[in-house]
Amino acid sequence: MEETQKGRYKFVKVRECPKEIKEFIASKFQGRVLNLCCGTWPCGHINVDIKTSGSALNGNKIIQADIFKDKLELGEKFDTVFSDPPWNWPYNIRADFHNIVAHHLKQGGVFILNAPWLPRSLFFDLKEVYAIYRFSGLPANASLISIAEYTGRDL
Ligand SMILES: C[S@@+](CC[C@H](N)C(=O)[O-])C[C@H]1O[C@@H](n2cnc3c(N)ncnc32)[C@H](O)[C@@H]1O
Repeated sequence: MEETQKGRYKFVKVRECPKEIKEFIASKFQGRVLNLCCGTWPCGHINVDIKTSGSALNGNKIIQADIFKDKLELGEKFDTVFSDPPWNWPYNIRADFHNIVAHHLKQGGVFILNAPWLPRSLFFDLKEVYAIYRFSGLPANASLISIAEYTGRDL
């Protein structure tokens, strides 16, 4: 279990996306990966979050940015964009977000979304959707894992 010591206090992480779910998501990655809203799981080649609390894996780059306010000049289009965004984003913000994801993908690139909504958008053809169940049959997570292909269509 992850622990952080700060003076007289010890902080113990008690809830995190289960390792097996992260491994399943990572098994779907193709080519160069942009992780938008990476949080403490900077698993792509370029990882973006509004706050940079994570530590980079394999020397990959972490960029602190607000994806809605900062212009992300990444200089490349990616094969995969993965995102585990805040699940309470309202409908209009989701639409802006899908727009930003499309902007960073190559045509035919893959958008992998871990959220309670589907990436329904002009930009994407939905290919696969996974719900996560425990072997007990009880749902393990409130989210779906969606895999969609960027069509190259634009507004
Ligand atoms: C559900 S958490 C992601 C958790 C991550 N998968 C992990 O395991 O740590 C959503 C993340 O989105 C980030 N975030 C929220 N709004 C953002 C924005 N406008 N731009 C960039 N990142 C944002 C938050 O800082 C948070 O780390």
